[in-house]
Amino acid sequence: MKRLSRRTIVLGGLATAGSVVAPWHTAQAAVPFPFKLGVASGEPAPDSVVLWTRLAPSPLNADGQGGMANADVTVEWQVSTNERFSSLVSAGSVAARYADAHSVHVVAGGLAPDSDYYYRFRAQGHISPVGRTRTAPAVGTFGRDLVMAFASCAHYESGYYTAYRRIAEDNPGLVLHLGDYIYEDAASAGSVREHLGSEIVSLADYRRRYAQYKSDPDLQAAHAAAPWLVVPDDHEVENNYANMVRADSSPALTAAEWTARRTAAYRAYYENMPLRPSSAPSGNAISLFRRVRWGQLATFHMLDTRQFRDDQASGDGWKVSTDADLASRSLTGAAQETWLLDGLAQHYGTWDILGQQVFFARQLNSAGAANMDAWDGYRASRSRIQQGWLNRGVRNPLVLTGDVHQAWANDLKADYANPASATIGTELVCTSISSGGNGTASTTIPNVSNNPHLKFFSDRRGYVRTTISPTQVRADFRAVASVTEHAAPVSTVGSFVIVDGQPGLRPA
Ligand SMILES: [Fe+2]
Repeated sequence: MKRLSRRTIVLGGLATAGSVVAPWHTAQAAVPFPFKLGVASGEPAPDSVVLWTRLAPSPLNADGQGGMANADVTVEWQVSTNERFSSLVSAGSVAARYADAHSVHVVAGGLAPDSDYYYRFRAQGHISPVGRTRTAPAVGTFGRDLVMAFASCAHYESGYYTAYRRIAEDNPGLVLHLGDYIYEDAASAGSVREHLGSEIVSLADYRRRYAQYKSDPDLQAAHAAAPWLVVPDDHEVENNYANMVRADSSPALTAAEWTARRTAAYRAYYENMPLRPSSAPSGNAISLFRRVRWGQLATFHMLDTRQFRDDQASGDGWKVSTDADLASRSLTGAAQETWLLDGLAQHYGTWDILGQQVFFARQLNSAGAANMDAWDGYRASRSRIQQGWLNRGVRNPLVLTGDVHQAWANDLKADYANPASATIGTELVCTSISSGGNGTASTTIPNVSNNPHLKFFSDRRGYVRTTISPTQVRADFRAVASVTEHAAPVSTVGSFVIVDGQPGLRPA
């Protein structure tokens, strides 16, 4: 269902390309500043990008409406090649609707491929902060080398968003967020900073939780620095949920109330993310697995491993199990698996990058048990995808993962039980932005004797910065010294390269 006016989608804009325009002046605005949640962009294509903002002069109001009256508001937008907006390449206006919590998703078109742009909004006599964005290279061209940062898991109470700030400072061309952008749990006393209110259940609750998170200036800086590609994990709805099955019985909800909660969660997710209008949810479902092509350089296959999975064999518990125990379980669902394998068969880009949520490589603990919430709990599903990319001659499969709040770098194996078997791909696991608190300085790989294909580990918070070129991907594991103290320094705690045509990790 489209919940945006036709004027939302302005392809090419209202201004003549390259035209010099009268500057925007801030009027003597009678209302408070409405851009307190910042600006964002996402879903870059060779000729367009999504621009996002949400009006909220009082972001933390309990009704989730951010202090806006029950009326629609016109929001103007501009895209320029320079930060002064002295000439425009695209511009228009859009209705920010009360029904959408005054969020807007503008598809700004008429842009040139592999180009940098600046954008801003104006509403109610106020001008927003300026964001920087970028388009993808044209089909068949490599474009510039791409600095892409990826991250996940930003529990607000666990620490400050220094890692988001450091991502912005790296000036990436693209950011991937792999889930747990918010957490649903109630305030817990004594945290570094506290959630507002009880566990979130209603649409107003979810809207206010996003507003609390998005009020953070470090998060706003990361959004303003580059376009994002986002996929949710469980906590955008509820811990460890699987398809229509709740793993968590608190608070008690009837089936109808759970469906209403999921509907609210995905509606608020869409409202608060720079997604295309085609991703707007329908009821309690949202269509998020998608491909974003980055010219000849890379293809991003963004997966949704929550909405279509079979229920976990043991929640997110660890369990000793056999292949036969788990043979019928799918993590992606049949339709998404077919879509992924069909896309991998196209060989669109040099690097086929799977942006997804949960640990992909086999990982056994000292007792031989594996995490049933991750691909180890759905190992037939994993085998079909690995064999699928082998059968289709995929040159450079690279899996990106969030969820586990630790950094890992893994070789993917044809047969995890046989360390001598072929390395057939590579996995990079970002740690968390803040979830889990400071962590430790340890880089000792846990249970490495059971998992010789796991090559790197760090227990600090941070992100992974990749530099993607036609000949290699370089991965720098970035770690912040602390998340309980604001503005801690960042350092690189591990670096690897993956060479074109040669799956697996090499020291940088
Ligand atoms: Fe998480």
